[in-house]
Amino acid sequence: MAIDYSERIPNNVTLADNRRLQRALESWQPHYLRWWDELGPEGTQAYEVYLRTAISVESDGWANFGYVKMPDYRWGIFLAKPQDNRTIAFGDHQGEPAWQDVPGEYRSQLRRLIVTQGDTEPASVEQQRHLGRTCPSLYDLRNLFQINVEEGRHLWAMVYLLHAYFGRDGREEAEMMLERHSGDPDRPRILGAFNEATPHWLSYFMFTFFTDRDGKYQLASLAESSFDPLARTCQFMLTEEAHHMFVGETGIMRIIQRTCEVMRELRTDDPERLRGAGVIDLTTLQRFINFHYSVSLDLFGQERSTNAATYFTTGLKGRYHETRIDDDHRLTDATWPVYGLVNGVIVGDEQPALLALNERLRDDYIADCQRGLDRWNKVIESHRMGELLQLPHRAFNRRIGAFAETRVSPGGAVLSESEWEQGVANWLPTREDHAYIASLMQPVLEPGEMAGWMSPPARGIHGQPLEFRYVKFS
Ligand SMILES: [Fe+2]
Ligand SMILES: [Fe+2]
Repeated sequence: MAIDYSERIPNNVTLADNRRLQRALESWQPHYLRWWDELGPEGTQAYEVYLRTAISVESDGWANFGYVKMPDYRWGIFLAKPQDNRTIAFGDHQGEPAWQDVPGEYRSQLRRLIVTQGDTEPASVEQQRHLGRTCPSLYDLRNLFQINVEEGRHLWAMVYLLHAYFGRDGREEAEMMLERHSGDPDRPRILGAFNEATPHWLSYFMFTFFTDRDGKYQLASLAESSFDPLARTCQFMLTEEAHHMFVGETGIMRIIQRTCEVMRELRTDDPERLRGAGVIDLTTLQRFINFHYSVSLDLFGQERSTNAATYFTTGLKGRYHETRIDDDHRLTDATWPVYGLVNGVIVGDEQPALLALNERLRDDYIADCQRGLDRWNKVIESHRMGELLQLPHRAFNRRIGAFAETRVSPGGAVLSESEWEQGVANWLPTREDHAYIASLMQPVLEPGEMAGWMSPPARGIHGQPLEFRYVKFS
């Protein structure tokens, strides 16, 4: 079923049949547009961008590609198709029909899950709003805007649930989504990583690789929810999310590719000489990996969590690919290894799996990150130059969980404060690193041209050539 774009809010939830809900969302819409105008991508009011827009939720041909004037993008509400007779896959309600409405006893917990997820979506748009000024190419600029409009749509997805199922509280939460702002000292976004600055394109590619990937794992566990509208919303969001991680993975890969080419030309891996040649040395990249990875690990929360256990037993939030896991889906006797500090040493310890669900999701995430790093390392290996990139130890640079109070090196050694102070400039991006990266950020606005610090992508968007005019400035 194609989506009707003549409606004020395009949707596949038969919004027109529910006048009250439609009016409520139509009164939120101008607030959203004002927020987009003030805190969305800077200076883009007149840009025409080659964007994809969802036109159905079928797996083939769900998107349409064409030029869109940025403020005229049509943010809509799209849920994946319902599954016939879907039943609950896990927890105390296993085997019962999935809920089409919110059970009163789980109302506040479900609202909290939806608000926490929803809050990240506009946050990342705010974090990335200045990047358009310094794009490495029109291709990359277009991808940035694609991600921004889709994060905006993800906010719509969560706001729809709040309006449709949570009454007045939900409407108030929807307003609050536009009142908290990334990095605002008085009204910050809910989660730490979404209050960090995204000052330049290296941070942005790292963010889309590491932090959007946290989003993938959160959405995938919510896509298992017994609350069917939430599950279906998240399933469709995951379709869009894949492109965001693609942008991060290929962005970093193109930086590595360019750096390795210059390393070969100059026959050196000396960071200073590579910087002199205008590329990003691998040691600097490693420091940015260390930072973005550790900040993103925090997003999974405490290793042992009774909240996570409750979300699972009540059926609100499943595990990654819950239905594909071969066990009782109740975790009555199961255990899971959890890392912690015992007498100053990091050890993994079997704990009740029900309490370790955050840790389990974090483990799934770590494995996925490692697969991405392996693909980056293949580029380095193919040039036979330079040290391979590594994920730091999970206890490195953590602010949340069992290691929040402990200094740990990227290799996993527990350190004293002075050892940390001595090493930290080698492990996390320094002020000089940021200044150097910032010095590379000169806009490249001619079709087909590319900044000198990254190589061109393997192919263009939707079959278009690289020299295609992905963004028109009028
Ligand atoms: Fe998103
Ligand atoms: Fe995303």
